[in-house]
Amino acid sequence: MTKKLFIKTYGCQMNVYDSARMTDVLGGQGYATCATPEEADLVVINTCHIREKAAEKVYSELGRLNALRRFRRSEGRDLRIAVTGCVAQAEGGEMQRRAPFVDLVVGPQAYHRLGDLVAALEATKTQAIDTEFPVVSKFDALPAQTSSAAAAFLTVQEGCDKFCTFCVVPYTRGAEYSRPFADVHAEAERLVELGAREITLLGQNVNAYHGERADGGRCSLGELVRRLAEIPLLQRIRYTTSHPLDMDADLIRAHAEVPALMPFVHLPVQSGSDRILAAMNRRHRADDYRRVVDALRDARSDIALSGDFIVGFPGETDADFAETLQLVDDVGYAHAYSFKYSPRPGTPAADHDGQLTDTVKEERLAALLAKLETQRLAFDKTMVGRTLDVLLERGGRKPGQLAGRSPYMHAVHVDAPKSLLGSVAAVEVVAANPNSLTGRLAR
Ligand code: SAH
Ligand code: SF4
Ligand code: F3S
Repeated sequence: MTKKLFIKTYGCQMNVYDSARMTDVLGGQGYATCATPEEADLVVINTCHIREKAAEKVYSELGRLNALRRFRRSEGRDLRIAVTGCVAQAEGGEMQRRAPFVDLVVGPQAYHRLGDLVAALEATKTQAIDTEFPVVSKFDALPAQTSSAAAAFLTVQEGCDKFCTFCVVPYTRGAEYSRPFADVHAEAERLVELGAREITLLGQNVNAYHGERADGGRCSLGELVRRLAEIPLLQRIRYTTSHPLDMDADLIRAHAEVPALMPFVHLPVQSGSDRILAAMNRRHRADDYRRVVDALRDARSDIALSGDFIVGFPGETDADFAETLQLVDDVGYAHAYSFKYSPRPGTPAADHDGQLTDTVKEERLAALLAKLETQRLAFDKTMVGRTLDVLLERGGRKPGQLAGRSPYMHAVHVDAPKSLLGSVAAVEVVAANPNSLTGRLAR
């Protein structure tokens, strides 16, 4: 009988990619995925540590799973529980102290060892913690993919050396590391063979990518994009998340020269105030960011931007916040995420003077969200009447519909035959809804 695996994924797209790879690893151990923890023999919680009481939320989820496990055991069946991801990395041994029923605690750099850990658990009930940063990269030891969605993720770079003062990523994901060019290229080819028509290249700082080439030189993200664009049938390439400092001229030029490179860039800025940017250790000023945006738009005039913002960073004044609003006005975003500053244990900003109250953070967040939402809706309205290429990835909201993404990442719903699933179709946009576009097949 095949064993059942339930994976719950939190956090960024890199966790989504990692969960897919863990599914491949555990497939080798005879596990097939299922839709609920109730059916599962093994539950994996793939966690995120970026904001708020991340660890506490994981512990309360684990409490619920333990209740399920006790019930199972009363029926003579077992449930095994593994915690992976950035909370696993941050908590390590502390996790099994607070939740002794957790069988495995596995950090993001150790997923290739998950198969052996699960095998040992099944054979000898050996619980384990694996939060090492091994010398051998997990990427060399993970099995090849066995399936792919039409829009696939491919992690090319991991970790971060930037140490923004608010951020846990350098601690949970470790030092910046780029996968060799040949490995990335081979994985991209495989994903395309398996049906991928779009690949999003992933990294915490993906544009810092500098993978080793066969000739010993280094391949930049711009060069990687150009080389991947030569793969027949790969119609779309995206990359995320970028740091403004690593946005080099070659990558910007690629937006002008590579039609497969989609005209949508997620480029977090966090704040529009130079004083706050310095306190965040972002190592650029607001005007440097504006210049990068201008260069991108010079390269490709229809480029749409997305961003991340933090409001209520320690010491942020009304004047600092006004500069963030000004930057938003100057740039004009198609989409953005904004967050209340959340002190993360162990990061420098958590100990900065001038921590702000939740009321101030809430007020600023509401003002920023309102502005960003106005921009987003205005941008979406400009799509009505236009014909956009949409990669039809899945069934739509209504029967007879398919849904997919526009070049600018809109969810688009369209009446279309199932035979078009997995292909790019020209769609005329007829309406902009609050969270999606509706269209009809253009030809
Ligand atoms: N590597 C990316 C983003 C990584 S985390 C970059 O450099 O921009 C994703 C987003 O979470 C960040 O852009 C930031 O806006 C937000 N974030 C990270 N730490 C945070 C914290 N302590 N409080 C609030 N938001 C945070
Ligand atoms: Fe975190 Fe800054 Fe690195 Fe982004 S660049 S992952 S925000 S430390
Ligand atoms: Fe979260 Fe770790 Fe990604 S903290 S955002 S899952 S890198």
